[in-house]
This record gives sequence, structure tokens and C-alpha cells, in this order.
Amino acid sequence: MALLTWQEKYSVGIKEIDNQHKQLIDMINELNDAMLAKRGKEVLMSVLNKLAAYCVTHFTNEEKMMSTHDYPDFAEHKEKHNKMTAKVKSLIVDVQNGKLTVSIDVMNFLKDWLDKHIMGTDKKYAPYMHSKGVK
Ligand SMILES: [Fe+2]
Ligand SMILES: [Fe+2]
Repeated sequence: MALLTWQEKYSVGIKEIDNQHKQLIDMINELNDAMLAKRGKEVLMSVLNKLAAYCVTHFTNEEKMMSTHDYPDFAEHKEKHNKMTAKVKSLIVDVQNGKLTVSIDVMNFLKDWLDKHIMGTDKKYAPYMHSKGVK
């Protein structure tokens, strides 16, 4: 069962961004399924690495959009992306070293972060971007 399901409430009204958020949701679900199926570390690492790489791709995209349109809260938003990138990198190192396993707690952390980030931080730029003609 999916840990996280796309819902209309997540839409920021920008097609490309919504699609990227859907991809992130898919990857979180893929990792959750791999954890529940008790897949080995190799598989978990590969899904986790894919998720981390896609986070960077997505964050870079959003940051480009925000900077292109002089979004006033750009720096604050970017800082949140940076913190998450660092956190995911440290998760990867810990899993690799055997200090941490991908658990329900880890999955809930990822799920809650994405939910809160989209609903709180990403949603904040929506009206501004729309006013700049981004959709
Ligand atoms: Fe964001
Ligand atoms: Fe986002």
C-alpha cells in the first residue's frame, strides 16, 4: 500500500512542479515497499540514492524558477532545501555504514517532510509565481 498518495490539495498549480512532486511521492512509496518487503541493503541504497538525486534535481528546478522571478522568500526556501539535502545525505551515509536501517520512522520522516514542505513552503510561492505567469 502506498505510504503517500498524490492529492489535489498538493497542487501548486504549476504543471512541471506538480509532476516532480508526484515523482518524489512515487520514489518514497518505492522505498517504503522495498522496506516492507525486507529487501537487502543494496536495493534500499539504490532506491535511496535515486530519491536523493531526484530531490536535488527538483530543488534545483524550483530554485531556478524562484530566482528567475525574484521570489522574495527565495533564500529562506533554499535554506530548507539545503537542510533536507544534507539530512538525506547523512541518512545515506548511516545506512551505508550500517548505523541505520530504513525503518518506519525513517519513512515517516520522509513522508512528513514532503507533505509539510509542499503544503507549507512550496504552496507559499504559488500565488507569486501565478502572478508572474508561471503555470
Ligand atoms: Fe521546495
Ligand atoms: Fe517542491
